[in-house]
Amino acid sequence: GDAQAEGMSTFSFDEIAAGVDETHHVAPGYNAKVLLRWGDPVLADAPEFDPNNQSAAAQEKQFGYNNDYVGFIPLDGSDDRGLLVVNHEYTNPELMFPGAAVERDDEIVIDEWTKEMVDIEMAAHGGTVIEIQKGEDGSWSPVRDSAKNRRISVSTPMEISGPAAGHPRLQTSADASGRKVFGTINNCAGGVTPWGTYLMAEENTHGYFLGELPADHKEAANYERMGVPGGWYNWGKFHDRFDLSKEPNEPNRFGWIVEVDPMNPDATPKKRTALGRFKHEGCETIRNKDGRAVSYSGDDERFDYVYKFVSSGTIDDENREANMDLLDDGTLHVARFDEDGTVEWMPLIHGEGQLTAENGFESQADVLIETRRAADLLGATKMDRPEDVQPNTETGKVYVMLTNNTKRKEGDTNAANPRPENAFGHIIEISETDGDFASTKSTWGILLKCGDPSIAEVGATFSPATTEDGWFGMPDNCAIDADGRLWVSTDGNSEKKTGRTDGLWAVGTEGEDRATSRLFFRCPVGAEMCGPVFTPKGETLFLAVQHPGDDGLATFENPATRWPDFKDNLPVRPSVVVVTKEGGGKIGI
Ligand code: FEO
Ligand code: CA
Ligand code: CA
Ligand code: CA
Repeated sequence: GDAQAEGMSTFSFDEIAAGVDETHHVAPGYNAKVLLRWGDPVLADAPEFDPNNQSAAAQEKQFGYNNDYVGFIPLDGSDDRGLLVVNHEYTNPELMFPGAAVERDDEIVIDEWTKEMVDIEMAAHGGTVIEIQKGEDGSWSPVRDSAKNRRISVSTPMEISGPAAGHPRLQTSADASGRKVFGTINNCAGGVTPWGTYLMAEENTHGYFLGELPADHKEAANYERMGVPGGWYNWGKFHDRFDLSKEPNEPNRFGWIVEVDPMNPDATPKKRTALGRFKHEGCETIRNKDGRAVSYSGDDERFDYVYKFVSSGTIDDENREANMDLLDDGTLHVARFDEDGTVEWMPLIHGEGQLTAENGFESQADVLIETRRAADLLGATKMDRPEDVQPNTETGKVYVMLTNNTKRKEGDTNAANPRPENAFGHIIEISETDGDFASTKSTWGILLKCGDPSIAEVGATFSPATTEDGWFGMPDNCAIDADGRLWVSTDGNSEKKTGRTDGLWAVGTEGEDRATSRLFFRCPVGAEMCGPVFTPKGETLFLAVQHPGDDGLATFENPATRWPDFKDNLPVRPSVVVVTKEGGGKIGI
């Protein structure tokens, strides 16, 4: 608009003070209300939350733990009624189970694990689809008896589709077909497609496996590259498929993008293998100007890569059903960020370059199962932990959140990752050539190096107009609003590290406002900020407050806060917050 052309600020709200306390804060003139908390009923027959008598059966029908990605799918084109789709990334058992966690040697440990605890954790993972609506008074609430409400968990039957479906490396004793898998894990960010499906990105799936592979097993190098087994959870003690010694192929069935049709609660979710297997942070998909779908995904690991998938077919705007398997056929690319400011999107195609049988890739299925190794051979650029990758359809720009990488050494930097010991992360802006998101050669620059700009050696590049409240470290998720403006949420700010909690910042990208950041919302202590998403008209914003109260030696009995209920008999609860402007209108203006 004119304001952008003149280089004026396109944001006008009163910034809040950065800091740390027990509750959340939003800019004056806005309401920030808790919409959905861990344990709230989702299905019509769900019991009310009772943290002292929780069961897996109850949890399967209630809102899961650690809400991360949030998407909004309007119903009947309305901005005031829609389906909210929410990922439940992981569980904090020390904050979930009464009497389970104890402090020993400055660590929190759980000595006694039962199968019921594991099954509650498995039911608290996955996703939620829930109808929500805005009432006459302008406030949002869940539609408790909607037939579309659904919980997806680690026991939901799913289909494996695309080039790797049925491959022997995906076959297990429970599934000789290699095409059927139970559930999804560690769904971090995700996406909503232009045809209205919900994408759940499987990220740190290595953490759920324990045990040892049989000696000289052919997956040993593959699993080492993915960090399998991570041993973060005890599931393998009660469920054989999470024990490598019993089901050595099970880890190959995770690390994919899962597509869910939220309009049909009986639809079988599909793992779309064409988009590759790695630690997918998210999967933001747009309609390219030629009608093809383009999906961006970061692989969240130190020194891993940025990817985009371009569909072979085009989106049919008149026939939703015709788009349902678009993500099964197309080309996955990985990014090489060159010193001269170009980005080369290199296709990962079996038989091309080094992706041949000689290097252990017998077919496209092998290329996709070991996406990271294929990308290594192509010489992709090793990044500082790629998180959310967000295209802006209005401008042809793409924003890449690089959260941090303290293991990058001096002498090991590159133009796109220029800071050694990068503790605070940075944001790259890609300009896709002529606004063509399918382009294989584009340009890039750094929008922002994060951290405290008042400490010279940090090397942050926030504009001078950014206040002491306005800077942040560790960008993670982001969203583009109805006016094409960028909003960034963070993971890792704390009293100790930056003197502030995580939150949501509005970040200018154009003219004089470029690299100016302002604090709009901040989390309660211990929480990470996830899921920013706006309704299409930009009058409602949904935010996910993840792992609140998780600060140091927190337990169910002693969390760092009892947000959002602040009742002695209720634990701290991860929750989705809905933000609206008092009296209505667009957010941030
Ligand atoms: Fe689940 Fe990359 O954060
Ligand atoms: Ca994340
Ligand atoms: Ca996003
Ligand atoms: Ca993160």
